[in-house]
Order: sequence, then structure tokens, then C-alpha cells
Amino acid sequence: MITLILNDRLIRTDRPAGLPLLDFIRYDQGLRGTKIGCREGDCGACLVLEGRLIGERLRYRSIVSCLTPLANAHGRHIVTIEGVNGVGLNPVQQAIADLGATQCGFCTPGFVMALSGLCLSEYPVTAEQALAALDGNLCRCTGYQSLREAALRIAAQLPAAPEARSLAVLAEKGFLPAYFTQIPERLAGIAPLRHKPRPGRIHLTGGTDLFVQRPDEVLDAPVNFFAGKKALEKISFRKGVCTIGSAVTATDIARNPVLQQHFPRIREHFSLIASTPIRNMGAIGGNIANASPIADMVIFFLALDADILLRSPQGLRQLPLKRFFLGYKQLDKTPDEHIEAIRFALPGSNIRFHFEKVSKRTYLDIASVNTAICMEMNGDTIVRIGLSAGGVGPVPMFLTETCNFLSGKPLIESLLAQADEVMQQEISPISDIRGTAAYKRLLLRQLLYAHFAELFPERSFAAFFQSLKR
Ligand SMILES: Cc1cc2nc3c(=O)[nH]c(=O)nc-3n(C[C@H](O)[C@H](O)[C@H](O)COP(=O)(O)OP(=O)(O)OC[C@H]3O[C@@H](n4cnc5c(N)ncnc54)[C@H](O)[C@@H]3O)c2cc1C
Ligand code: FES
Ligand code: FES
Repeated sequence: MITLILNDRLIRTDRPAGLPLLDFIRYDQGLRGTKIGCREGDCGACLVLEGRLIGERLRYRSIVSCLTPLANAHGRHIVTIEGVNGVGLNPVQQAIADLGATQCGFCTPGFVMALSGLCLSEYPVTAEQALAALDGNLCRCTGYQSLREAALRIAAQLPAAPEARSLAVLAEKGFLPAYFTQIPERLAGIAPLRHKPRPGRIHLTGGTDLFVQRPDEVLDAPVNFFAGKKALEKISFRKGVCTIGSAVTATDIARNPVLQQHFPRIREHFSLIASTPIRNMGAIGGNIANASPIADMVIFFLALDADILLRSPQGLRQLPLKRFFLGYKQLDKTPDEHIEAIRFALPGSNIRFHFEKVSKRTYLDIASVNTAICMEMNGDTIVRIGLSAGGVGPVPMFLTETCNFLSGKPLIESLLAQADEVMQQEISPISDIRGTAAYKRLLLRQLLYAHFAELFPERSFAAFFQSLKR
């Protein structure tokens, strides 16, 4: 039986585990404030907050209910627009009303929930953070300026430090109803669901790919749900090696303090993936198993020459991630295997790493071409290099030949043009809605330049840059 707290009510339900949370909220529970827009995670009209206990701390994040299976709400506090209503308008609703940040109102519950998520954020509230909180919401009629002003006004009203924004403080200031302060105790009383993965079932972690592609199957077929499984949600470090469980979300990877030390720009790089609510849900295992040739997290970890760990009733199997992709949407994986983790050597201080993505829109768009590079230098010589590229072949590619060509060579400018020639031989892009094959070839050439320009700002690659214009 699935048990959750929906706003202030404890709910036990035997409704299907694969039912979209959105439908459960609207049709089973009659809470119509949460709207149905795209049902594809794009618009944020269905946005709700998910509160979960991490140890003794209650953590809230925004999620899209259209792509969340009911099973993933087990043991959680799910907050809809009805759940933040108090007496009169709360400060978030007041800011939206005062600044004229609503017209038809269809998107408004989603925006209120995104900004309520900002109030409850486990991270410091800054102006940048306030604007980013809205990155998963679309509005067709108001225009975004007034919404941004509302976000900034709310940020200015909130204590920046998370410790100064306890549930009690937020309730006292009227941002939340008082019942929130009882939620940690109430959630602690819900026992976790314990089901082992069974062979032959569909695997589901965040649902952000699966629900878009095969929603009916999730509803009807038996599913292995991986979100919330503690063993799969861990990031661990041992002897210079990092292991990331398959259910770790993009948000948790980007926010991990140790990974931030080794990849100082990881938050910036991951901000190019989807939107805040999708990053709060979408996990590394799903990104890999979805087998998209442009999966951003795959491209990031491919350049590090990561391994993948696959679990089945027969045991654990480890293989290089670059060998996991056999052909378009074909994986070296049996139906009984699920992804348990990825593993890679943490880059040392002599390693330079960079990620690039080009898409039609900067945010909330999938890549036309993406690429990552990881380089170890000894003086002027490239000792070791990992270069990955997406959107230029049927699978996410580790560019072995290009890497072999560059390894051991001194980094002089003419090397880039030669490397590009090897790289162009190695890739095989096709024309599709994200661009022609020729355009993708040009993009990757430009991104090769971007990698070197970013990693070696002290050097000039002017001749190679000029050649890009021809
Ligand atoms: C609006 C929107 C924007 C997006 N933008 C981007 C983007 O910019 N970049 C990007 O890379 N992706 C993007 N995505 C895709 C998606 O969010 C990511 O691929 C995400 O990481 C998928 O993870 P998930 O946990 O939600 O996967 P799920 O949907 O749960 O699963 C995806 C696939 O993996 C399988 N699977 C899940 N877990 C496992 C496991 N442990 N072992 C084996 N198989 C498993 C499922 O059966 C399914 O085939 C976007 C999606 C949406 C809806
Ligand atoms: S309905 Fe559009 S994101 Fe859910
Ligand atoms: S106010 Fe109409 S869609 Fe936003």
C-alpha cells in the first residue's frame, strides 16, 4: 500500500504504483489547482513540492507531477497549491498579485509552487537562485519580467541561509501554513516500501524519460521502482574513486561538495540539463539506460572514462561505459540487469575538465551536439585525454581515435586542426530536427576549439579559430 502525506492529510492508497501523481492529485483527490499542461515535463503547470526525510532533516524539492509515478510519492510529503494556502494570500501569492505576474492564471499554481520551493530550499537563497527556481515553468500570457520581479521580491523577503528558514520561521512569517511543522514527525512514521527488483520488469527511477515515452506501459506493466532506494542514492568516495548510485539525481550530483571540488564548474554545466524540477527527479541510471545519443550526463562521465556497474540475480558486472552502447538504443544489458552505479577515478589537480552543449535554447532543451573533455598534462605534453561527443553518431561516443592521436603529443596550435581531421573521420552525424549532418560536424569542430580555449586561456588558438569561419 502506498502511503504519503498530501498537504495536511495522511493518505493510504492501493491505486496503481505507476499512476501519474498528477492524476491521483486531480482525479482521485479532487485537488484541481494542479494543472495539466504538456504532460511531458516542459511547462511546470503540474509542479508540486516533494518533501522527504533525509535523516532527521526534511528536504523539499520541486517536481513535475505529470512524470512522477505514485510509487515515488510513498513516504513523502506532497504539497500542492492547496497545501500552501493560508488565511488570505501568502507572501508568494501576494508578490505575484502585486506585480501583475498573472493573467489567465493557468500557469500560476505552478509558479507559486516553484517559488514556495525556493522558500523551502536547502541552499542559500540568492537572486540567481530565485530566478533559477522558475526555469521549469512556462507562461503563455503574462511575460516573464513581472514573474522575475516577483521572484526577486520573495528572495529579498527571505533569510538567505537555509538554517534561518526553518519550517517554524517560514510558518511564522506566513510563507507556509502551520501544519508543516508537524510533517517531519508524521513522515517518520511511514515505513519504506521494500520490494526487490524482479527480473523481466520495466525499470523506473525518476520517470522523466519513461513517462514521456511509454506512459501506458508504466501504468499497466509490472515495474521495478528504484527512486528512494538508499543503496542506489549514494555518492561515495574511496581511494580516489567515486561511485555514483544509479538513482542519484542530476541535482544531487551537481550539488555534491566533493564533486564540486573536483569539477568547480559542475553546477554551471549541469544547469544546462533540463530544468530544476526535472534535475530534481532525473537520475544518472535513467540517463544512461535511456540510451539517447545526446544524454548530457552520459557525455559528462564518458570523458572521465567511467565504468558502469550492472546488477542482476547472477551478480555484479562492471564494464567501461564506452562499451555499454552497442548501437542506436542498443545496450550491452540483459533485461534482468539494472544499472547499479557508475564509477570513475576522481580527477587530480593536474587534470583539466570541461563540458560544452549546444542546443536551440540555452535552457530546457536537449543538445544538438554536446561534448566533454578530460586532459592530463605534463608541462606542454598531453599525457592522457578523454573526449566524448553526443549527437554525432548513433550512440554517445568516446572518441577513441581522436584521443589516441592527441595522447603523448605536445600541445601546439597546429595540433587542433590535425585532431579535428581525425575527429571528423571518427564521427557519423545524421541530419535531423536538431540540425544537418554538416552543421553538427561544424558544431563539434567549434566545440573542440571551445574546450581548448576554456582549458588553456593562457594560450592562443587564433589560427584554428579563424579556420572555423571558413
Ligand atoms: C522536459 C525534459 C527535459 C529534459 N532535458 C534533458 C537534457 O537537457 N539533457 C538530458 O540528458 N536529458 C534530458 N531529459 C531526459 C531525462 O530527464 C534524463 O535522461 C534523466 O536523467 C532520466 O532519468 P530518470 O531517472 O527520470 O529515468 P527514467 O525515466 O526512470 O528511465 C529512463 C530509462 O532508463 C531505464 N532505467 C531507469 N533506471 C534504470 C536502472 N537503474 N537500470 C536500468 N535501466 C533503468 C528505464 O526503463 C527507461 O528506459 C529531459 C527530460 C524532460 C522531461
Ligand atoms: S503538465 Fe507540463 S510539466 Fe507536467
Ligand atoms: S498567466 Fe496565462 S499562462 Fe501564465
